[in-house]
Amino acid sequence: MKRVWIETYGCQMNVADTELILGVLAGEGYTQADQPEGADVLLVNTCAVRDNAEQRVIGRMGELQRHKRPGTVLGVVGCMAQRLGPILLERVPKVDLVVGPDGYRNLPELLGHAAGGMRTADVEYRSWEHYEDFPQVRAAGPTAFVTVQRGCDYRCTFCIVPTTRGPERSRRLADVVAEVRALAEGGTSEVTLLGQTVNSYHDGTDDFAALLRAMGTVDGIRRIRFTSPYPTDFTPSVIEAMATTPAVCDHVHLPVQSGSNSVLRRMRRRYTRERYLDVVDEIRSAMPAITFSTDIIVGFPGETEDEFADTLSIVGAAGFDDAYTFKYSVREGTPAVKIRDHVPDDVATERLDRLIDVVRAQARRRNAAHVGEVYEVLVERPARRGDMMLARTRRNHMVLVDLPTSSIGEYHKVQLTGTTGSTFTGALHHARLAVL
Ligand code: SAH
Ligand code: F3S
Repeated sequence: MKRVWIETYGCQMNVADTELILGVLAGEGYTQADQPEGADVLLVNTCAVRDNAEQRVIGRMGELQRHKRPGTVLGVVGCMAQRLGPILLERVPKVDLVVGPDGYRNLPELLGHAAGGMRTADVEYRSWEHYEDFPQVRAAGPTAFVTVQRGCDYRCTFCIVPTTRGPERSRRLADVVAEVRALAEGGTSEVTLLGQTVNSYHDGTDDFAALLRAMGTVDGIRRIRFTSPYPTDFTPSVIEAMATTPAVCDHVHLPVQSGSNSVLRRMRRRYTRERYLDVVDEIRSAMPAITFSTDIIVGFPGETEDEFADTLSIVGAAGFDDAYTFKYSVREGTPAVKIRDHVPDDVATERLDRLIDVVRAQARRRNAAHVGEVYEVLVERPARRGDMMLARTRRNHMVLVDLPTSSIGEYHKVQLTGTTGSTFTGALHHARLAVL
């Protein structure tokens, strides 16, 4: 029995890809190691979206190398593997194998070569690849990530993802339904559909609206989430499908990136501030309970103080409940590299701090307003500290509840009793109050 240790960095799609890699390797008799020591294969599934993500991986690889004995294979997979390819083999002498997101079906063969001393990089794009024939090895739990679309055909000028993940392609609706049906039969009741522009999903026959509706018919699936949609791909029919499919949750993560029209244009985002806000309004009118989170980049090349002010003001204008905020990171090979006037790091840092203050204050205010309300939550996992369980509302609020570990996967009604600003505490609720 060969044992593989795999670490995952970056987005949810990498989490799903790690489950896929474990599935590919399980077919060849590999089992998952619970520590790097003594494993036959060490893999790092990497992110390339910002430089600090790559620096973390490089640091971690330095540590992992220490577990390498003769015969152990050290491999780098994922977006950083795709971006750097053979350069990684040159720069990190102990790395035996570099495989991009379209090369995972070859892993068993490449691992064999690597064990024999051959160092390879497989960074070919395979735009047909969906890994349909590999059952994923998923961590047990009530919720599952389901990749419905790989790659990206948009060309946001800051973003390396189109280079690391190749062209956009959607899985066939019937294949997705079959997978979700099997998940539901195994006890999963919540799925998160994944794609870089997930609502541009189209398999040649069916679009994202059809996919949502089809998900809604799967017995046992009580919650449907998806990430990340692109603002202008929320067609009226997608919004209608969301609003009329009861399992679709009341939360959308909708990356805005900037609140300034001139910055959005330089980023080559396909919307204006006004159009973005219209989309938010359209979704809110169809689903009044919806909450929004977003991604925001500060310090994009040429960003002026006025442009940044527009980003600060869109937080309130859109009514975001949460935001992931990033300092722009130059990615070699992206179009934005050529834009002049790079924002000095101290200016970008200072803007990031101001933005985080605005986002936090708004999140705290909005969350405080929910204290006292009663929600249905799905119990997901033990909280990191204490002996409480972490549960989630349909609106994506995280709630600490005093329940036993055996409650994982159960749905309970809880009354929110307090908030730290980002998460809530809740108490089990039995009375007949309206449930949100
Ligand atoms: N379409 C994907 C985007 C993947 S990248 C999605 O929406 O999930 C995730 C986020 O990282 C982006 O929304 C963006 O806010 C941020 N990001 C991407 N490239 C970046 C860069 N060069 N510098 C800083 N942040 C970046
Ligand atoms: Fe990146 Fe824009 Fe695609 S952020 S993943 S190029 S939609």
